[in-house]
Amino acid sequence: MKIAVLPGDGIGPEIVAQAVKVLEVLSKEGRNVELEYGEIGGAGYDAAGDPYPAATSKLAHEADAVLLGAVGGYRYDTLPRPMRPEQGLLRIRKDLGLFANLRPASVYPELASASTLRPDVVAGLDILILRELTGDIYFGQPRGLRRTVDGEREGYDTMLYSESEIARIAHVGFRAAMKRGRRLCSVDKANVLETSVLWREVVTEIAKEYPEVELSHMYVDNAAMQLVRNPRQFDVMLTGNMFGDILSDEASMLTGSIGMLPSASLDAHSKGLYEPIHGSAPDIAGQNVANPLATILSVAMMLRYSFDDEEGAQRIENAVRKTLADGYRTTDIFQEGMKKVGTKEMGDAVAARL
Ligand code: IPM
Ligand code: MG
Repeated sequence: MKIAVLPGDGIGPEIVAQAVKVLEVLSKEGRNVELEYGEIGGAGYDAAGDPYPAATSKLAHEADAVLLGAVGGYRYDTLPRPMRPEQGLLRIRKDLGLFANLRPASVYPELASASTLRPDVVAGLDILILRELTGDIYFGQPRGLRRTVDGEREGYDTMLYSESEIARIAHVGFRAAMKRGRRLCSVDKANVLETSVLWREVVTEIAKEYPEVELSHMYVDNAAMQLVRNPRQFDVMLTGNMFGDILSDEASMLTGSIGMLPSASLDAHSKGLYEPIHGSAPDIAGQNVANPLATILSVAMMLRYSFDDEEGAQRIENAVRKTLADGYRTTDIFQEGMKKVGTKEMGDAVAARL
């Protein structure tokens, strides 16, 4: 298992260090784990003047999988856009062709009461948000800032999806649904956007190849509402880059904390980049309070999707479950009567149970 490790910025290095503890346990058991570290985001800018240095690209291409922490920090907020940490993330996704972003949101029974929603609304929740990751308004051209003839400033972006881009993510969605509850809800804004009209058409065509999957369509505003009204109605939610960005943050809060959600970004051959869905949280960086579980659970996804090791994946997930059942909580998921621990202690607790 040749893994490129890119800790990034803010809490990135602390949480990645806990995930590495988990990989070390696997390594001691005899799995061949090879870690190579690289820089991305602000760390890339500091080291090489580029949020996605050429050396990091090379490392990522040569590895079987990439483990990433998070990018971004106050210090970089005033840099010109091409130098900003977020560009590192967008560029590595594009560079590696990682078009399929899997963001599962499931509620651990122990944390059902940590959600801001009532436990009876979220208990037993198990959704997979499948977000297209290399197209849409994030990458569409043209985009820019310009002046109108009247001299007023104008900003513009292009929302764009080609048929083949929609088709390939739709196939991933239907295949994922086949392995789960066999229900796929495609989320768009077809009542307003041309991009979404095409999206809906193509998804409907592809659905014919998967007669066992029940397909439904939902407008994104309604989907945002349904996610807090009755989230358990969903199995797989398939959507574009922009809507998926927003809906996955929303869905994370159903689970108790954004600090719990892992993600996998896959190319057409299951090479993947694995990262927590949360950001670099510069306000709590270096304080040993960040929740490392999303990153640890990202390693489980790595075993499942890049190394075809379902057993290893489930062992990590069970170790996390046991740690929660034993009462360990970082600040973000803390409740009265539980054991409050820091980032490192949480990592140790999971590694011990593994
Ligand atoms: C995410 C993040 C990124 C995105 C940012 C940091 C560019 O919000 O992974 O969801 O918008 O994709
Ligand atoms: Mg986001």
